[in-house]
Amino acid sequence: MDVLNTIKERRSIRKFTDTPITSSDINIILDAARWAPNAGNSNSWRFIVVSSPKLVHTMQNFTPGIFNKPAAIIVVCIEPTQKRIKEATRLIHMADAAIVSQNISLVAYSMGIGSCIVASFAAIAIRALLDIPEHITPYLAISLGYPDESPIPPPRLSISDTAFLDNYGSKWQS
Ligand SMILES: Cc1cc2nc3c(=O)[nH]c(=O)nc-3n(C[C@H](O)[C@H](O)[C@H](O)COP(=O)(O)O)c2cc1C
Repeated sequence: MDVLNTIKERRSIRKFTDTPITSSDINIILDAARWAPNAGNSNSWRFIVVSSPKLVHTMQNFTPGIFNKPAAIIVVCIEPTQKRIKEATRLIHMADAAIVSQNISLVAYSMGIGSCIVASFAAIAIRALLDIPEHITPYLAISLGYPDESPIPPPRLSISDTAFLDNYGSKWQS
């Protein structure tokens, strides 16, 4: 599948069929994740794959951003390389978590698996539920499953509304 088309055609999927995702497919997704660009090549991501229907259901109680019932949820966490974390480091962690989530979403789409990146979850509850140690932070959750909907692409701003040439305000002409 062509990368540009994969990027443009992927949609956030919030309604899934009951079909489970095989662990070998989850493994392919995790393999794509670990090849994401990441700050200093620290490889700080830690992924918790939640696939038991009971635990997925329980997680949903603390994850208002996840609608309906996904086949699996991957919680994207970061394990810092240093003990003291400055605010700037947190932003880098967020960037690492976001970029790896994009890898997960795109490879899942290329495999026919729908996904939705979700920031809306109760981190304290998820930490307790999944036994996440104190020094590891969950940043995002990604619901995964076979799509039971084909969302209309939500609108995007045009290139010339978001890009400039040489200085801010000088619109990029496409
Ligand atoms: C950081 C981030 C957080 C998001 N959080 C949620 C969420 O909590 N619930 C949800 O339904 N979608 C969430 N989304 C999905 C966005 O709503 C979605 O990407 C956006 O509407 C564009 O739609 P598209 O992904 O189909 O292009 C999130 C996306 C990102 C990147």
